[in-house]
Amino acid sequence: MKVIHATSYSDLSRKAANIISAQVILKPHSVLGLATGSTPIGTYKQIIEWYNKGDIDFSSTITVNLDEYVGLAPTNEQSYRYFMNENLFRHINIPLENTHVPSGLAEDMEAECVNYDALITNLGGIDLQLLGIGHNGHIGFNEPNNAFEKTTHIVSLGESTIQANARFFDDIKEVPNKAITMGIKSIMQAKKILLIANGPDKKDIIEKALYGPVTPSVPASILQLHPDLTVICCFE
Ligand code: GLP
Repeated sequence: MKVIHATSYSDLSRKAANIISAQVILKPHSVLGLATGSTPIGTYKQIIEWYNKGDIDFSSTITVNLDEYVGLAPTNEQSYRYFMNENLFRHINIPLENTHVPSGLAEDMEAECVNYDALITNLGGIDLQLLGIGHNGHIGFNEPNNAFEKTTHIVSLGESTIQANARFFDDIKEVPNKAITMGIKSIMQAKKILLIANGPDKKDIIEKALYGPVTPSVPASILQLHPDLTVICCFE
């Protein structure tokens, strides 16, 4: 595990963007695992800036996102598909058909879970997975639990997650209480993992996750067992 302390959010974003860009430059047909939330926005902005300078080509890159709210259409501004299109995909030359976000609207959500895992397997697994972290230690939407959920599954969102994510909605009542998320196994099977955490409110959970016991009550603690984990944090 490599832990890098960034001096500011823009330093964190630049460092994370450097790692992702290097991955795509070295292996243009990389499978990138991507994340939503406020933390990666600066990373995506930096990547777009370097793309505009002609430094990176995404024409053969493939992406798989971690999660999506159940019940939100891709056109809903709060959906993670919409977030990814707006914050990254439409600004770079990645073919939209190369970008994958689990569907929150599938008629058969159980089948959607199975199909999403099959998709990742058929793509040959994830080369580099970008992760944020929730205040309760969730990664993707893997909430604290009695056991690590291995595969893509439907999850009921915890109260603290609903509250934390309410800031993106007009009313807390609009925050969906269910999500579809990649499981811990898919995340852990990524060849490389890049975890980013920003702000003083993330300090305690990062310490618990990286240096506390490995337990499903802190889902991110499993990352301690990953052979190629880089953490970039800024607690300023
Ligand atoms: C959401 C996402 C997570 C993300 C987390 C933290 O719950 N599903 O993938 O890591 O929020 O978000 P933020 O970066 O806004 O703190």
